[in-house]
Amino acid sequence: MGTELESVLVSKEQIDAKLAEMAAAVDAEYAGKDLLLVGVLKGAVMVMADLARALSNPVTMDWMAVSSYGAGTQSSGVVRILKDLDTDIQDKHVLIVEDIIDSGLTLSWLLSNLGSRGPASLNVCTLLRKPDAAKVDIDVKWVGFDIPNEFVVGYGLDYAEKYRNLPFVGTLAPHVYGG
Ligand code: XMP
Ligand code: MG
Repeated sequence: MGTELESVLVSKEQIDAKLAEMAAAVDAEYAGKDLLLVGVLKGAVMVMADLARALSNPVTMDWMAVSSYGAGTQSSGVVRILKDLDTDIQDKHVLIVEDIIDSGLTLSWLLSNLGSRGPASLNVCTLLRKPDAAKVDIDVKWVGFDIPNEFVVGYGLDYAEKYRNLPFVGTLAPHVYGG
């Protein structure tokens, strides 16, 4: 572990085991149905890649990129679409794949946006969730790990675009972000 990282919060082994469990649940839930996985760029890339490969049923995948308006690292809940889906989701079974739910404001916006497009069903799975940071109540069907309200990096999550390629989720040493 480099000196910039403080600790490993969720190991690669824990992530692999949890995604295998989640994939089995997703396979069971959508058996006999066409499922579209919607990944939220960029953070969800690793979760999407590993979850999708752990599924037995064939699925389709699409991506959205959104950005939260407002200064700083706090989510404002006002969201701008940077990249919309390539596909029409009307009458489709849609599962949003997220890396992390923090305040929940981004996801809440996304749920109402995608919900208005008339999907047959709309659910959410996320690798990580910070229960203590929640500002809105969101019904999340599958959660990998509830974690403390700390800034985390790795496995898709970044600090200033770095650390996304770590195979685990870790916390940063305070000196890295000026703490
Ligand atoms: P909200 O607050 O709307 O924010 O749920 C969700 C998005 O904020 C980013 N986020 C993080 N990124 N480490 C990160 O690298 C974190 O601890 C963290 N918390 C929130 C992330 O992009 C997420 O989709
Ligand atoms: Mg994200």
